[in-house]
Amino acid sequence: MANSPNKKNNYPNNIGIIMDGNGRWAFKNSFKVSEGHKKGVDIVRGIVEESVKQKINSLTLYAFSSENWKRPKAEINSIKKLVINAINDQVPELKKQKVKLKFFGHLDDFGKKIQDKISFAEKETCTTDSQLNLNVALGYGGQQDIIDIVKSVSKEVASERLNIEDIDGKIINEYSSVPVDEIDLLIRTGGDKRVSNFLLYQIAYAEIMFVDKFWPDFTRDDFSSCLNNFKKVSRRFGKRI
Ligand code: FPP
Repeated sequence: MANSPNKKNNYPNNIGIIMDGNGRWAFKNSFKVSEGHKKGVDIVRGIVEESVKQKINSLTLYAFSSENWKRPKAEINSIKKLVINAINDQVPELKKQKVKLKFFGHLDDFGKKIQDKISFAEKETCTTDSQLNLNVALGYGGQQDIIDIVKSVSKEVASERLNIEDIDGKIINEYSSVPVDEIDLLIRTGGDKRVSNFLLYQIAYAEIMFVDKFWPDFTRDDFSSCLNNFKKVSRRFGKRI
């Protein structure tokens, strides 16, 4: 099940990022929280470009967690608006760079306008020779995803379309909403050392790097340092080598 590193340069194939610290960055700089998220989207653009340049297979971003619904309505609305604006502004460039966009999570909770935008963005950027798979988690929680998988798989077993003995990692990935099977490198900015319900099943063997900077201060050089640090790590996947 374990992925091998990117053969061309020993960089990770699949990267996940918890982009934390937008609120604290805004507070530190006397901006509104929405400005922090806006700056956060600008940072994403550079990291996507660098990922294409470094031939990363996939980048999976935690844009909005299941728990983020507990935030003030104004902040939630500002993030929704940012997603729509990001799609409007970025899709032509993403298309040019052959970046394939995919959104996942409980997207139904975001209303028709965003869902239509998402379908448009996914259709526009759909390509068979993508340079990067850019996956954006919206209304996503790792525990919720596992619960959803258990429910779907149970239904298949109950209706005798699936044998219990045939349930394996492949089946779990098939029924998961997460578009990537396995994360090689998980980066979290913002200084906290936790995984906050992100890609719980997929990070089983991930290297985890905690960066002590707010997401709006995260640079392409910081990203390159993470990639270079990943190269130095010996990944054994339980084996003795
Ligand atoms: C965490 O910072 C960040 C978020 C909850 C939202 C991040 C969302 C974006 C950058 C928009 C992404 C959109 C696309 C289309 C990629 P925080 O507010 O939790 O920071 P804090 O811990 O300092 O409060």
